[in-house]
Amino acid sequence: MNSWLLRDVQVVNEGRVIPADVLVRDGFIERVATEGIGNAKGVKEFDAKGKHLLPGAIDDQVHFREPGLTYKEDIAHGSAAAVAGGITTFMEMPNTIPQTLTQALLEQKYAMGAASSVANYSFYMGASNTNVDEVLRTDPRTVCGLKAFLGSSTGNMLVDNPETLDRLFKEAHLILAIHAEDEPSIRRNMAEAVARFGDDIPMEQHPFIRSAEACWLSSSNAVALAKKHGTRLHVLHISTARELELFTPGPLANKRITAEACVHHLWFTDADYKKKGALIKWNPAVKSLEDRDAIRQAVKYGRIDVVATDHAPHTTEEKEHRYAQCPSGGPLVQHALPAMLELMHQGVFSLEEVVEKMCHAPARLFQVKDRGFIREGQHADLVLVDLDAPWTVTKDNLLYKCGWSPFEGQRFRSRVLRTWLNGQLVHKDGKVDGSVRGMRAIFDR
Ligand code: DOR
Repeated sequence: MNSWLLRDVQVVNEGRVIPADVLVRDGFIERVATEGIGNAKGVKEFDAKGKHLLPGAIDDQVHFREPGLTYKEDIAHGSAAAVAGGITTFMEMPNTIPQTLTQALLEQKYAMGAASSVANYSFYMGASNTNVDEVLRTDPRTVCGLKAFLGSSTGNMLVDNPETLDRLFKEAHLILAIHAEDEPSIRRNMAEAVARFGDDIPMEQHPFIRSAEACWLSSSNAVALAKKHGTRLHVLHISTARELELFTPGPLANKRITAEACVHHLWFTDADYKKKGALIKWNPAVKSLEDRDAIRQAVKYGRIDVVATDHAPHTTEEKEHRYAQCPSGGPLVQHALPAMLELMHQGVFSLEEVVEKMCHAPARLFQVKDRGFIREGQHADLVLVDLDAPWTVTKDNLLYKCGWSPFEGQRFRSRVLRTWLNGQLVHKDGKVDGSVRGMRAIFDR
């Protein structure tokens, strides 16, 4: 059943909020009518009673751990949590086991997505020091982008050979998304921390070990290389104020170099390590209040183009390890939109800005075909939210396989009520219909 008449919604789209009825037929948005729609045959009707309807969010950075690390997360759980959180399309990272370093392995991931994803999906092709030829065979129309770790994180996928990097930046024929942290700086800082604290390094040291300087060195190098070669570069998870000068405000259409901010860098600060400890240990690290506030401003005023999650779950047991053995990353897809809407309630962003950065901008940036907007002719990926229905994140309402969230105990004012995926009602009131399957995202390139 993928035909619906959604009555009395407040459509939040392209900078405006308008009362309308929305007709969805055979998975596509057929009409958005401010004057209302009388009767429509062969559709299910739903009266939204004035609630807000958003385009499904597009998350350009998730780690769903399949294949090889499915004890942490898998595509079925990750995508279910995503749609429950209003994210209808995800782009997944290559640091799985095996790593996504060949076209054959990449296509195997797409087969896994087709088999078990309840959200629309795309998977990045991974770069290594030795696979540039294989990377260059990636199909720009059916794959979101290329991913290179210029600083090692989970999965040891560091690309640090200067000739490889130069060739990758020179010849990349689609978006090159990078993790930018300078490895020698991190190693040096880590050695100093071990000398000082032994094997009992406090979590609060994370932003000094994975330092602002390490971010700056790596991202400024990458931007210089991209300028030299004209690379279409996308710098992921900006975590410091200083890096912001590398990016320019202005329309996406004019940019060759873009940037992403993640929800945890917009929400937490180093003051939170005391209480949350390993639960907010991410790479790059959550840094100072000044950094967080500068990133918020950059999102608002356009230096940063998109907001994503870097959803990267690990088990509770892994997170209980001491600093050096404790992996970085945490689950986020279920709470990213509620958290951004909370920032709206706090006056940080407007509702239209949240939709711009989580729905429209990722669609534009990646040239996603027919998604990311509430427009006639687009796929009906739609999210109904109640902006005033407070709820608290507890273990009971988590859909993550890992069973924890850095937001546990957090009260959010806004709630995702329903999610439609290609016109199918895939999520209602925290329950996901596991029989729905997403589609492979296509790119207009
Ligand atoms: O904290 C992180 N964890 N950052 C990354 O870039 C990778 C991720 C992971 O895969 O665990």
